[in-house]
Amino acid sequence: MSLVNRRVLLVITGGIAAYKTLDLIRRLREQGAAVRAILTEAATQFVTPLAVQTLTGEKVYRDIFALTDESEMGHLRLAQEADIVVVAPATADMLAKMAVGIADDLASTALLATDKMILVAPAMNHRMWLNEATQANVARLTMRGIKCVGPNTGSLAEGETGPGRMAEPLEILSAIELLVADGPLKGRRALVTSGPTHEAIDPVRFLANRSSGKQGHAIASALAHAGAETVLISGPTAEPDPLGVRVHHVESARDMLKACEAALPVEIAVCAAAVADWRVEPAPQKIKKNGGLPVLRLEENPDILATLSRPGNLRPRLVIGFAAETENLIAHARKKREAKGCDWIVANDVSPAMSTFGSDNNTVHLIDANGVEDWPPQSKREVAASLTRRIVDFFAA
Ligand code: CTP
Repeated sequence: MSLVNRRVLLVITGGIAAYKTLDLIRRLREQGAAVRAILTEAATQFVTPLAVQTLTGEKVYRDIFALTDESEMGHLRLAQEADIVVVAPATADMLAKMAVGIADDLASTALLATDKMILVAPAMNHRMWLNEATQANVARLTMRGIKCVGPNTGSLAEGETGPGRMAEPLEILSAIELLVADGPLKGRRALVTSGPTHEAIDPVRFLANRSSGKQGHAIASALAHAGAETVLISGPTAEPDPLGVRVHHVESARDMLKACEAALPVEIAVCAAAVADWRVEPAPQKIKKNGGLPVLRLEENPDILATLSRPGNLRPRLVIGFAAETENLIAHARKKREAKGCDWIVANDVSPAMSTFGSDNNTVHLIDANGVEDWPPQSKREVAASLTRRIVDFFAA
């Protein structure tokens, strides 16, 4: 019951994905939320007002000119009496209206009249989603602080495949929880590093490693879901920015350290990035082949985990590192915990046989001052959730 006392105004626009919104209503109610719904005219072609009314247990709002609607609940009150306004599905048409501020029916008027948090779950044909116009509208909405969940890639209503499927009800629920629920880490600040770093050799080449950023990003997302105000300092990855997390994108180890120091003070720091241990002084111009074999002089990069772990006023209360090892996993990880001065270390085997890099799964061991916990093989998301539970317990103790 994560949404007790939370009020959701759900705007349902006209897309086939509207049938999934009925399931979303059920799940929101299960979590204790009060749900009011506005249906656009087009939405009523896909779901009936009666179905929505039955599931919400509330009158369904449709018509801006209905006198009874206005006298019982004007569109301004409707929008203001919610903690969050969720548009699911959000058609290309509604996103366009929101982007420019058109208010020509109850749904778009309520969206223009609210200063509450807005979450959109786009759903449309992939060509409509990829169209420059839609992308520009979404970018404009995001810039205004409107949150977006999905769309997912998969088979679409017309038998085609591509990005445009509305996020699943559970994903939308999770995004709503992230935005309005009180988690156990509410009021705490967390910093997470993720991904590889790139160290320039010249303007076109760099030193890098195989880190995908999946584990670090999943941890940032899990901490944010638990209510922590989370900053993610990410090296170059293909992972999307997690919802509800402030993300700083950096390239090199030195940039990552600078961004981490700027994010202090925090109570929780998780260093999951595979920071390049060495850098070179980058050549100002592209190194040419005809100049003979180049020699790269490696210099050591700053150690971010060790820097954050140093005693001092700004030391986070809980500093967690990762130990990526290809042999003697536990022994090396224990030594690393001591050498770097962090509180916990998550040891993971990155030998080729484990194919940890880029994969969705991870087998890890949590090492603290008391010893070693062997965790079962889990998905990276589950590892993130387990680690977050341990962090919650730490602060509860
Ligand atoms: N780390 C860091 N800054 C660095 C190198 C590593 O913050 N310059 C952090 C990583 O984010 C991780 C931990 O230190 O949390 C251990 O990283 P790992 O790559 O396993 O170890 P290294 O310190 O690089 O040591 P080695 O390469 O010798 O195993």
